[in-house]
Amino acid sequence: MSTCRQSIAVIAGDGIGQEVVPAALDCLRQISTIYALGLDFVDFDWGSGYYQKHGRMMPVDGLEQLSKHDAIFLGAVGIPSIPDAETLWGLLIPIRRYFEQYINLRPVKTLAGVESPLSSDRDIDFVIVRENNEGEYSDIGGRQYRGLPQEIAVQEAVFTRFGVARAAHFAAGLAASRGNRLTSATKSNGIVHTMPFWDEIVTETVSQFPSVALESVLIDALAARMVLKPWSFDVIVASNLFGDILSDLGGALTGSIGVAPSANLNPEKKHPSMFEPVHGSAPDIAGQGIANPVGQIWTAVMMLEHLGHQVAARHLAQAFESTLADGTSTRDLGGTASTAEFTQSVLRSIDVIADRSTAVTRQK
Ligand code: NAI
Ligand code: MG
Repeated sequence: MSTCRQSIAVIAGDGIGQEVVPAALDCLRQISTIYALGLDFVDFDWGSGYYQKHGRMMPVDGLEQLSKHDAIFLGAVGIPSIPDAETLWGLLIPIRRYFEQYINLRPVKTLAGVESPLSSDRDIDFVIVRENNEGEYSDIGGRQYRGLPQEIAVQEAVFTRFGVARAAHFAAGLAASRGNRLTSATKSNGIVHTMPFWDEIVTETVSQFPSVALESVLIDALAARMVLKPWSFDVIVASNLFGDILSDLGGALTGSIGVAPSANLNPEKKHPSMFEPVHGSAPDIAGQGIANPVGQIWTAVMMLEHLGHQVAARHLAQAFESTLADGTSTRDLGGTASTAEFTQSVLRSIDVIADRSTAVTRQK
């Protein structure tokens, strides 16, 4: 049981964020009650709706408001009527950078009951460590001669020794705690300044972990290998853009992007970390009650782990995994359950697991 309370800032955001976040919160509340975790949830109505009223995605002091919380639980942002760059750079990216959430951790794992589009039935279990604060996602650059035939656009990628080293260090530490294999995504044949720099610093950093075998693989070949032999990976470290692309592919390989979770971590815990699914706001299915809440629930598991509630995290993971294994799933996975029906099954499963462990404790 926890003695001090922890506060979670909740930003459901746009589209299916408004459906999967309440579903995951129902699960979190139930788990929090069982283990008396003392979690408080504080809602923020930021996102595209806020933008339409106020001309910005969050208030001027939004980051300061968030800094008072122990973690941020986010759905997704983005609606078709607002440019994506506006929604992403108005909320998500400032949060990741201000709070030094320089690691974006994205597990890719086969789940029982979820069919992979691949014909092989070998299990997939690897983690993508995406550098989350710099790289290709930079606002340095610009456009000139707008509308004229000679119009140009320049976008600068930014890689720093400090930034690459800390991502590589985290990834190598993670590999050392798993299968000791680390794959670095590169493109040093085509991108001749930043990628050789990335390779050098990754190699240098990983050499501090003698148990970890490092391989550098060109991103194009790596994408192909992810489809052909996804079981051959343990931990993949990648720049901001490469990690982003590979993690959607990873989600798809394990059945649906709707199941993929992600954690934006400030590993030192100096600032709040942010937990969100890999998927976006899915405007094509928003409002229909059919979104898969697994990515958001799995993200909640990662948040519980980060907040130090390992047993409760395992309990919630077992609950959604057994729901899937029992054959309940949403349409993206070939099932028929609505978001609400799937969530009800997970809530029941949480209770069943709690009753079972109480019975075991009594027998002892
Ligand atoms: P998306 O991930 O929202 O959707 C891609 C496809 O996957 C769609 O067909 C969608 O229906 C399906 N899908 C996604 N999540 C699902 C779920 N939980 N259950 C069932 N099906 C699901 O990516 P898209 O369409 O490229 O982007 C839509 C909007 O989301 C854009 O505005 C984009 O900028 C934003 N976005 C926001 C992110 C965030 O807030 N972290 C991340 C990615 C995109
Ligand atoms: Mg993405």
